[in-house]
Amino acid sequence: MTKLSVAVLASGRGSDLQSIIDGIESGKVNARVILMLTDNPEALAIGRAKKHGVPVTVIDPREFTDREQFDAAIWKKLDAAKPDLVVLAGYMRIVRNGAFIDAYRGRMINIHPSLLPKYPGAHAQKDAFVAGEKVSGYTIHFVDSSLDGGPVIHQEKVDISGCRSADEAAAKILVREHVGLPMVVQMFAEGSFAIDGKRVTYHKK
Ligand code: GRF
Repeated sequence: MTKLSVAVLASGRGSDLQSIIDGIESGKVNARVILMLTDNPEALAIGRAKKHGVPVTVIDPREFTDREQFDAAIWKKLDAAKPDLVVLAGYMRIVRNGAFIDAYRGRMINIHPSLLPKYPGAHAQKDAFVAGEKVSGYTIHFVDSSLDGGPVIHQEKVDISGCRSADEAAAKILVREHVGLPMVVQMFAEGSFAIDGKRVTYHKK
């Protein structure tokens, strides 16, 4: 079976990127990471990618006056790489260019550390913890023009009732993200998804 080609967008630590690389290297995920794109020249994800031979492109938003233009630069790089799937893995920017979102609809996914639609946004684990949630989790969903609101592919609940801080809850959720993300990438490698509104159906090849 041909390998799924994956492009990853990451902004920071890159542990979700690492989980995909590890899944590939252990033979569980039939894919290749063909490109890691980042908006952060300091991202730890850069070192992780390079260590595993993944080509890296840095697109610095400070070089753009306009967010749509920045997104267009990302879009252009992705088009040149021709990935089957784009994974936003700890990518801390909202994609604002609607034409870009349309062009990658159904093949661009995001991982978010809450049980969406609860706690969208950049502080999901803290928001869930402060709200006193006993159970939170993560969501892997298609990217659309809403903030963390696209059609859901996979969710997993995580018990955070014993956590004494938001950081502890985040760490507990992250461990599970690293299981779920490679699993979903492998689902793309083995089949396809159809989206009808917010409803997602999966077809195994
Ligand atoms: C994860 O919690 C992910 O859900 C969120 O950002 C975090 C990524 O961490 N979108 P890392 O940079 O991949 O380690």
